[in-house]
Amino acid sequence: MESGGGLYQAPLYYDVVNTPGTAPETAALIRLARRFAARSGPGSVWLEPACGTGRYLRHLQSRGRRVRGYDAQPAMLEFAAARLDSDARLATAAFTTPAEKLRHLGHADVAFCPVNSLRHLHTDRDVIAHFEQIAALLADGGVYIVGLDLHVAERQPDEDVWHARRGGLAITQVVQYLPPDPGSRREPVVVELLATRPRGQEHFSFAYDLRTYTERQWTALLARSPLRRLATADADGRPVNGAARLPYQLEVLARR
Ligand SMILES: C[S@@+](CC[C@H](N)C(=O)[O-])C[C@H]1O[C@@H](n2cnc3c(N)ncnc32)[C@H](O)[C@@H]1O
Repeated sequence: MESGGGLYQAPLYYDVVNTPGTAPETAALIRLARRFAARSGPGSVWLEPACGTGRYLRHLQSRGRRVRGYDAQPAMLEFAAARLDSDARLATAAFTTPAEKLRHLGHADVAFCPVNSLRHLHTDRDVIAHFEQIAALLADGGVYIVGLDLHVAERQPDEDVWHARRGGLAITQVVQYLPPDPGSRREPVVVELLATRPRGQEHFSFAYDLRTYTERQWTALLARSPLRRLATADADGRPVNGAARLPYQLEVLARR
């Protein structure tokens, strides 16, 4: 199931808020891929499940990579397609769509799913189905880089504020991360977004839950999947040793 409330039906606002940090985030993915994937340079194929508005795919395309992506939300994909050149291949699909239905995307040298998008899936079964899909879509020597926060349950309630502007559109977005109920693995996320244009203001509220993981839950899930961990890296794409507790980490996975 696609989740994320109406947030993902407002692609322009999502893109304006999130695009500014994309260049260094893409550089971190490239740094990691260069180290762990058999092919990652210009001409290599990069696949982004849940690609949203394609902000990473645009950066990768401008650096000579061939890009593929899918997303459950047609409005996000439409926005992405309008801004990528014609070599890009995009599909409306879910994390759990069987790989046979995505064969037209071809095999990927590098697949990646940053910023906790995978935490939209709420059962081990769905995550394993997703890893089966990716295992089938990776080329030999390919890697899957997944970005996520572990240890959420130990975190205090938190709030992030973004201010972003594109042309005459200014956006302020406040995201609150609330503690999961005791025993629950659902972290409630509440997004308030204010869009200001010369003609007036619009206000939106969205709410959704992200699944939480401890390191142990994540490792146990991986052990039951067709993917294995090659490395854990920080947000800059620098590998760390397994004991490090990071606020956000990039997991480098490969087929068993
Ligand atoms: C946080 S956004 C990230 C988009 C993009 N990766 C980025 O960083 O800009 C999460 C994306 O996941 C998509 N999504 C949520 N649940 C999904 C699912 N089950 N299958 C595929 N896409 C999904 C949403 O439509 C949204 O575009």
